[in-house]
Amino acid sequence: MRVLVTGGAGFIGSNFARLLTSERPSWEVVVLDKLTYAGNPANIGDLRVFDGFSFLQGDICDRELANGIIPACDAVVNFAAETHVDRSLAGADDFVRTDILGANTMLEVVRRHPRIRYVQISTDEVYGSLAAGSASEDTPLNPGNPYSASKAGADLLALSYHRSFGLDVVITRSSNNFGPYQYPEKVMPLFLTNLLEGKPVPLYGDGMNVRDWLFVEDNCRGVLLVLEKGVSGEIYNIGAGNELPNIQVTMMILEAVGASKEMIRYVEDRPGHDRRYSLRWDKLAALGWRPRADFAAQLAITAAWYRDNRAWWEPLKSGEFREYYRRMYEGRRGYSEATPASG
Ligand code: NAD
Ligand code: TYD
Repeated sequence: MRVLVTGGAGFIGSNFARLLTSERPSWEVVVLDKLTYAGNPANIGDLRVFDGFSFLQGDICDRELANGIIPACDAVVNFAAETHVDRSLAGADDFVRTDILGANTMLEVVRRHPRIRYVQISTDEVYGSLAAGSASEDTPLNPGNPYSASKAGADLLALSYHRSFGLDVVITRSSNNFGPYQYPEKVMPLFLTNLLEGKPVPLYGDGMNVRDWLFVEDNCRGVLLVLEKGVSGEIYNIGAGNELPNIQVTMMILEAVGASKEMIRYVEDRPGHDRRYSLRWDKLAALGWRPRADFAAQLAITAAWYRDNRAWWEPLKSGEFREYYRRMYEGRRGYSEATPASG
């Protein structure tokens, strides 16, 4: 079995590649990643010792490259994407290009090799904000920002290739992931690393937006199950049952690193901020999947990882990131760097 893992130098893709090297040691794992600001060779540095593991730097929109790699594979798992909602609000060109055109480029290659299984990694954000209840796989799509709209576009394309050409397509839609190797622009690693640097944490709006927090390993086990057992043409939600308002997650993060609530800054909200995501995942449960550990324990593991791996995240928070942070936060209503410690 040879699997192409696109975006495998990012957060979830690298955790998935690591899971494959341990759970499916006889498989060949080929990571293809453009190494954008979010891709990091250090995320997969430990995997290079495995005989079956290889890494290629490249763009999923590059048809010639895809033609050279994909035909020798048995499956493609497409994690590659632009993934940060706030960046998509600042400009969506890269999102449309990678998330939609990139998926289409690979589908076009797979179309010529229909024995290959194509797994599209999607998100609960395609269902949009839910006032009540939980989205099942047939809930209508209602994406609320350019990131989720691009992901929804890719899902529809992938399904259309299944229906029109019989391609062996499966889709996973997971809730918010957290865990080791997450780029520190997303809320959990941003808040943890800010606090470890003695900086405040910028909480959007009233802090009452709800996300369902899924430990990255649980998501990766779900993706592997769908890769192996998912029914062609089907979509599988992957949620965790950890629906919490951001303020509650923030309080748990503060506690995990021993910081006080004085470090919270309520800042101007994200435009169009989806209020609540919520998933049903009985379809994946029917294949035998369950989220494993409890949220508090997983958060503690994550906090310890960021505390112990400053050498991983400190370089990421310099350079491009510093400029991004200045643009994104420093002019925002409610933001201030002053802390009780700094006076
Ligand atoms: P990430 O931003 O950490 O990683 C994305 C990776 O894709 C990076 O390594 C980047 O270099 C690579 N990439 C970007 N453009 C590329 C291109 N044109 N060609 C090749 N590689 C490219 O993202 P993540 O959080 O690991 O998310 C992975 C996937 O899971 C995405 O498809 C995302 O939409 C989906 N997802 C993420 C979450 C979450 O909470 N993080 C939740 C649900 C779904
Ligand atoms: P994020 O990690 O960006 O994931 P997504 O928007 O894809 O769900 O944000 C998670 C939640 O945290 C979301 O409700 C927005 C909020 N948030 C903040 O309050 N402050 C921040 O600085 C960031 C990045 C997010």
